[in-house]
Amino acid sequence: MRITVVGTGYVGLVSATCLADTGNHVVGLDIDPAKVEQLSKGVSTIYEPGLHDLLTDNLRAGRLRFTTNADEAIAHGQVVFVAVGTPPRQDGSADTSALDRTCRTIAEKMSEPKVVVVKSTVPVGTCDRLEAEMRAQTPHRLDVVSNPEFLKEGTAVDDFLRPDRIVVGAENGEATATIRELYLPFVRNQRPILTMSRAAAEMTKYAANCYLAARISYINEIANICECCGVDVDQVRAGIGTDSRIGFHFLYPGAGYGGSCFPKDVQALNHLAGSKGYSADLLRAVHEINQRQRQLLFSKIANRFAGSLGERTFALWGVTFKPKTDDLREAPAIYVIDRLLEAGSTVRVHDPRGLENLKGLYGDRVICFDDAYDALAGADALVLATEWNEFRTPDFDRMRELLEAPIIFDGRNVYEAETMKRRAFEYHSIGRPTVNGPASAAS
Ligand SMILES: NC(=O)c1ccc[n+]([C@@H]2O[C@H](COP(=O)([O-])OP(=O)(O)OC[C@H]3O[C@@H](n4cnc5c(N)ncnc54)[C@H](O)[C@@H]3O)[C@@H](O)[C@H]2O)c1
Repeated sequence: MRITVVGTGYVGLVSATCLADTGNHVVGLDIDPAKVEQLSKGVSTIYEPGLHDLLTDNLRAGRLRFTTNADEAIAHGQVVFVAVGTPPRQDGSADTSALDRTCRTIAEKMSEPKVVVVKSTVPVGTCDRLEAEMRAQTPHRLDVVSNPEFLKEGTAVDDFLRPDRIVVGAENGEATATIRELYLPFVRNQRPILTMSRAAAEMTKYAANCYLAARISYINEIANICECCGVDVDQVRAGIGTDSRIGFHFLYPGAGYGGSCFPKDVQALNHLAGSKGYSADLLRAVHEINQRQRQLLFSKIANRFAGSLGERTFALWGVTFKPKTDDLREAPAIYVIDRLLEAGSTVRVHDPRGLENLKGLYGDRVICFDDAYDALAGADALVLATEWNEFRTPDFDRMRELLEAPIIFDGRNVYEAETMKRRAFEYHSIGRPTVNGPASAAS
């Protein structure tokens, strides 16, 4: 099929590449010329495992190309996927202006029937509205389908190729059949293609993200209560996660959730509920708990080094909002770095994939290291903010040698208290009793 994907960010680029890989001819349209130039050369603009090979293979095969030319891109696709951003406005509502503009352009430029597939996460009712607006603009047949995306950054390619389910919200059988045909290669493992109303599809995306965010805020709330009571949250987590009704997914205490989805989607659904006269108290609590949780790691550092933060140097491992991505949007690490810099501390950072984006944000206000151990040299403590695999079993002896004092603030509960005790580290984590280090660490 001839497909156009508008917006070649985390969702659009992965979708375009994977759809090309099953034999479709795909054009990716973006307003960012630098991005288009880089992608056209086969250089991925994001880090996503598996993406580079798929991108270069499909460019080489002539099934995938990128452009900033809207006329050409819109003329190409029988099906036009839209995956532009829907960032939060000041009041928490989703800003759909990029999507609205894109749809106006499609309606204006189309010269044959099209199916427009909205992949962006949008408030309930958006697809109905867009279809009515676009139909009023064009004499050609046009159907809007809601097809929310559930991929996870870090495993996005795999998630797209092997989704748990595909959700298709459509009011028209022909459009549904077209989208079904496109997705059949990805559900040969018998995963369902769920068809529903457009509004239900839009709501499904918010309901899924808000539920996952709620689990994180729930375990963070429990972790904080555990800390007040001197209880180890890991033991409690084991006790509840083994309950088959509960499980362990998204039940990791830590420095809060980040990324471009959970924070904005929780706020957007809360705002949507409010606009309909419903007070979404749970969603507000999920958001507020997360806001508080993001301050916790810095509070622990500030308490430990009370009065001397301005003279301190901190090593920070992990800046991306989660492992296996280069995405820094709403990353809890950014909150910690901002507070440390405000307090006058020196910050030495290592991250396996996020340093380039970090330099774009901070320039030379932070010191970046390609090697994790180089970042430790002379630092008063290590702050672990993102649980990349390579941080899980580090060389603790080398860390002790390099750090000014063996102190770790672990925002992801990566290490066991027993290990830290045995290795004589002073160890602060989330919802677990602090492990006091040797007398030298208390300076
Ligand atoms: N990132 C995720 O993990 C994820 C997962 C599921 C759903 N979503 C949703 O998908 C949507 C896109 O998210 P993302 O993370 O890929 O965003 P992104 O910011 O990475 O990408 C958006 C892209 O759209 C381009 N763009 C903006 N306006 C445009 C226009 N008028 N014409 C052409 N291109 C335009 C931007 O230049 C950018 O490349 C959002 O609604 C998001 O909530 C994201």
